Amino acid sequence: MKLCEFLGIKYPIIQAGMVWAATSPLAIAVSKNGGLGTIGAGSMSEEELRDQIRQVKDATDKPFAVNIPIMYGNAETQIKIAIEEKVPVVITSAGNPKLFTPVLKDHGIKVFHVVSSVKFAKKAFEAGVDVIIAEGTEAGGHNGREGIATFPLLRAILSELGDVPVVAAGGIADGWGFAAALMAGASGIQMGTRFVATSECEAHPAFKDAIVKAKDQDTVLIGGSVMAPTRVIRNRFADEVLKAEREGKSAEEIGLMFRGRSRLGIREGDLENGSLMAGQSVALINEILPVKEVINRIVNEALLAARSFNIQNLFCSH
Ligand SMILES: Cc1cc2nc3c(=O)[nH]c(=O)nc-3n(C[C@H](O)[C@H](O)[C@H](O)COP(=O)(O)O)c2cc1C
Repeated sequence: MKLCEFLGIKYPIIQAGMVWAATSPLAIAVSKNGGLGTIGAGSMSEEELRDQIRQVKDATDKPFAVNIPIMYGNAETQIKIAIEEKVPVVITSAGNPKLFTPVLKDHGIKVFHVVSSVKFAKKAFEAGVDVIIAEGTEAGGHNGREGIATFPLLRAILSELGDVPVVAAGGIADGWGFAAALMAGASGIQMGTRFVATSECEAHPAFKDAIVKAKDQDTVLIGGSVMAPTRVIRNRFADEVLKAEREGKSAEEIGLMFRGRSRLGIREGDLENGSLMAGQSVALINEILPVKEVINRIVNEALLAARSFNIQNLFCSH
C-alpha cells in the first residue's frame, strides 16, 4: 500500500501521539508540512481533546490523527469524541484492537494500531485495522514487554503476514533511518522523540534541551520487571524506579511511583523528578528545529541516501 495515497499526504511520515507533548500546534505543523500530525489524547480531558481537534481542523484541511491509548479509563469517551468530530485517522495503542476498530471503521475512520510483537500484529489485522505500527524497544515512552527492536519486528511482521502495510517506529530520527526502514519494506515511519525537539512542540524547553544533550547511552527502560517498560532519559526518578525494581517492590508500589511523573518531566521540565520519555534516537538529535526543517531534512537525507547507495559497490569480487 502506498501510505501517502491512502492518507492523502505528501510524505509517509507520522508524528507520534505523545502524552503532554503532541498537542495541536505540533500536529498542525506536521500535517501542513506534508506528514501526518497526531494529537496525543492520552493526557487530555474530554473538553481538551475536543478543543484540540477543533484547533487542528480550523488550521488545516490536511488529514491528521488522534492517538488513543486503549488502556486508559477514558478511552471509550475519547473514541466517541473522535467519531463525533469526524477525525480522519485514529491511532490506537496499549490495548485490545478488537474493542474499537469496528466502530471506528463503521464511521469511515482509518485505524492504525501500535504493536510490539508479531502476535499482536496478527491480532490487529484480525481486528480489521488498516495499518500496523511496529514499535521497537528503541522507542521513547511506553514499550512492549517483548523488547524486540524495530528492524527485526518490522521484518518479522512482514514475513509472517505478507503484503500488509506496516509503519516502522522507534529509533528513527534522520533520513538514513527513514530510507533504511522503507528499504526494509515499511510503508512509512512514525517518529516521536525527533518531533519533541521542535519549536512547535509544547513540551517544556528544559525537556527539549535534555533530548538535544542526551547521548546514545543516556536512555533506559524502567518499570519492566512489573509492567510494560517505559524508555526515559536516565535521571533521579529513573534511578529510584530501578532501585525499587531491584528491591522487588510490587507492581502496585512501582505503579504509584509513576503517578504524575510524565507531566512533571515533559510539560513542567523537572529534569530530576519527572519521567523524561524519550527514545534511543536522542543520540541523533542535536538541535531544536522547526517542524518544516525536520521534515525537509529527513526527506532530503533519505533521497540522498537512496541515490548514493549502491550495494554492489560495497561487495568484493574475491
Ligand atoms: C514523550 C513521549 C510520549 C509518548 N506518549 C505516547 C502515548 O501517549 N501514546 C502512544 O501510543 N505512544 C506514546 N509514545 C511513543 C510514540 O508514540 C512513538 O511510537 C515513539 O516515540 C517512536 O519512537 P521514537 O521516540 O524513537 O521516535 C510516546 C513517546 C514519547 C517520546
